[in-house]
Amino acid sequence: MPPMSLPILLLLVWLLPSFSTFSNLAAAFGTINEPILLGQHNEHEMITRIAFRCPSGQKSDGICFEPRSLDQLAGYHIDFMGLPIPGAGFNGAVGSPDTLDPIPEGPEAHCDDADYLDIPGYPQTRAEATAKLQVCIDHLRERFHQAWKAAGQLLDETRTIRPEMVELSGPFGDCAFAFPALQNDAFGRAKCSALEAFGRALHGIQDFYSHSNWVDSADPSQPISESNPPGLGMNGTAPFLDMRATGLIPPEQIPHNLTTGCFALPDTSPGSGDCAGRITHRALSKDNGLIYPDGTIGEVGPNSPRGEAVPSNFHLAVQAAIQSSRDAWASLQDEIRHQYGPLRGNLMLCALVRDDPVNDCILGDSALEKSLIPYTAEFLAVAKYDTQDSLDTIPPGGMTCGLQKQNDFEY
Ligand SMILES: *[C@@H]1O[C@H](CO)[C@@H](O)[C@H](O)[C@H]1NC(C)=O
Ligand SMILES: *[C@@H]1O[C@H](CO)[C@@H](O)[C@H](O)[C@H]1NC(C)=O
Repeated sequence: MPPMSLPILLLLVWLLPSFSTFSNLAAAFGTINEPILLGQHNEHEMITRIAFRCPSGQKSDGICFEPRSLDQLAGYHIDFMGLPIPGAGFNGAVGSPDTLDPIPEGPEAHCDDADYLDIPGYPQTRAEATAKLQVCIDHLRERFHQAWKAAGQLLDETRTIRPEMVELSGPFGDCAFAFPALQNDAFGRAKCSALEAFGRALHGIQDFYSHSNWVDSADPSQPISESNPPGLGMNGTAPFLDMRATGLIPPEQIPHNLTTGCFALPDTSPGSGDCAGRITHRALSKDNGLIYPDGTIGEVGPNSPRGEAVPSNFHLAVQAAIQSSRDAWASLQDEIRHQYGPLRGNLMLCALVRDDPVNDCILGDSALEKSLIPYTAEFLAVAKYDTQDSLDTIPPGGMTCGLQKQNDFEY
């Protein structure tokens, strides 16, 4: 979009004291619902909802998020008579890297600036672009680490959920998301801290697909250039977004022509200033479009030239972002069980996905046990290696939350 005029900017900041975000500062899949000035339709919220919501009215199976918990992760927006009230609502954890608190997170949170084009004299080499991508991946891994660390505060030493750590109702209300120091959930709720860190990781994971050429195709009507780099047309997710991996991204995982966009203000294509002669965020953007709650996709754009030139580019970016988000959650479940043992890990996961965990996540609760997935022999064999949790305390039939991935333990 064109540079925002100062009066409009001031108006927005005034209108939205705690929710202000705009694509011009931290361009990404959109965070807020403001289709007219910013062209955003809370794309991050929709992707996150589609990835994680429970079927209507159903309790969590341990993987999907119940409504109030999902609101914290995905955020919510508010319509008035079918029209969005710009910025009204809550950005949620996934939107927090775009939030002005006081400024959005930098390029590492959105996988920007890892641009590369295979032409003589391109301002950044393949190795330099790969190093920028590594900075982004390391940042997202750090957020993932913060998420499982925070989960450790959900239980007391008797393995009971600490009510003050999961409270989302009454005067507590929505989580307050902000990192680092000024920041922190005002009530120090571990559920909020874990969701915040995970949501911030999800933000970058989702942005990777809208900001890179991983899934997309170049505009066939234009020559290949900084304004129209080659598309990789990959049909799967990027392996280096595995949040449990460590160290350098294996070189074979990085296609030679992989690129993200250089981001500077004003965000233009061709680029100027620091982004002169480079592939810009603007050139690759597939940020904006309508995503409906059932996962279907409406009009693509505005302000997303690459999405508008080849509309399937936006669809593919959204699909990959949803799948990659689910993969990251599966990894977080595995990591929490790995770090804390299956018994406590499952209780922590239950506390994250359930809206009333104090009543719904109790070992030995008979109502809970009815919906249980029995422990398999394989699971029990694994549980033996958990030094903290004795098998004696596993209730008959086990417990429900988070057990679906029980074959995925890595010890
Ligand atoms: C996706 O890519 C793989 C290998 O890159 C290929 O075997 C498969 O047919 C592709 N699937 C679709 C739906 O294009
Ligand atoms: C990279 O893109 C260029 C076009 O800029 C193309 O000629 C080349 O074949 C691509 N390289 C690979 C390894 O796909």
